[in-house]
Amino acid sequence: MQKTAITSAEIAPVLANRWSPRAYDVNHIISQHEILSILEAGRWAPSSNNGQPWRFSIAVRGTELFDQIVSSFTGFNQAWAPKASALLVISALNQKPDGTPLPSALLDVGLAAQNMMIQTEELGLSAHPIGGMVHAEMRKVLDLADNLDPVMAMTIGKRADASVLEGPAYEREIAPRVRLELDEIVLHGKP
Ligand SMILES: Cc1cc2nc3c(=O)[nH]c(=O)nc-3n(C[C@H](O)[C@H](O)[C@H](O)COP(=O)(O)O)c2cc1C
Repeated sequence: MQKTAITSAEIAPVLANRWSPRAYDVNHIISQHEILSILEAGRWAPSSNNGQPWRFSIAVRGTELFDQIVSSFTGFNQAWAPKASALLVISALNQKPDGTPLPSALLDVGLAAQNMMIQTEELGLSAHPIGGMVHAEMRKVLDLADNLDPVMAMTIGKRADASVLEGPAYEREIAPRVRLELDEIVLHGKP
C-alpha cells in the first residue's frame, strides 16, 4: 500500500513516500549490510556541538533481546511490533562527563532517528517510530548506564498487506495520512 503525501509543492520522493506501517512481513530477514547502512545513517546525523549524544541498540527478530524489547513496549505496540525484522532503540546521553546537562540531546536523537528512518526507506524497507514503552523496563533490558535514557524505538522491516493486522492496528493502517495545513503551522512568510 502506498500512502504518498499530498503536498502543495514537490518534496523529495523519499519524504513523500515514507510512512509508518504496522503490517510487516514476518518472513523477511534483514541483512547485516542493511543494518549497518541504517546505523551509519544515524551516525552521520547533525547534532548540537557535534556532541552525538545518541546510543543505538539493535536486535533482529528471533533473538532474546528482540523479545525483551517487545516486552518493554506498551500494550498496543506489543500487538504489532513482533513481526518486524529488527527493532532499534535510541538512548540519549543525559549529561556530560562533568555533570553538565545536555539540553539538546533529545532533539539530536530525533534527528538521528529521522536519518535512520529515511535510510530505511531508501533500502526499500519501512520504519515505524515508537515512543510507547515502559522506560524503566527498557533501561533494564538494555542494561543502560545511569548517564543514558531510552528515548525512542523503531520497527524496521518489509511492509506487508494491511490484512495481516486486526482491530485498531488494522484501522490505523488503512487510514489516510493527514497533516495540519501549512496555513495552520507557518506563522510567518508563507508564499
Ligand atoms: C516520537 C514518536 C513516537 C511515536 N510513538 C508511537 C507509538 O508508540 N506507537 C505507534 O503505533 N506509533 C507511534 N508513532 C508513530 C506516529 O503515530 C506516526 O508517525 C504519525 O501518526 C504520522 O504517521 P506517518 O509516520 O505514517 O506519517 C510515534 C511517532 C513519533 C515521531
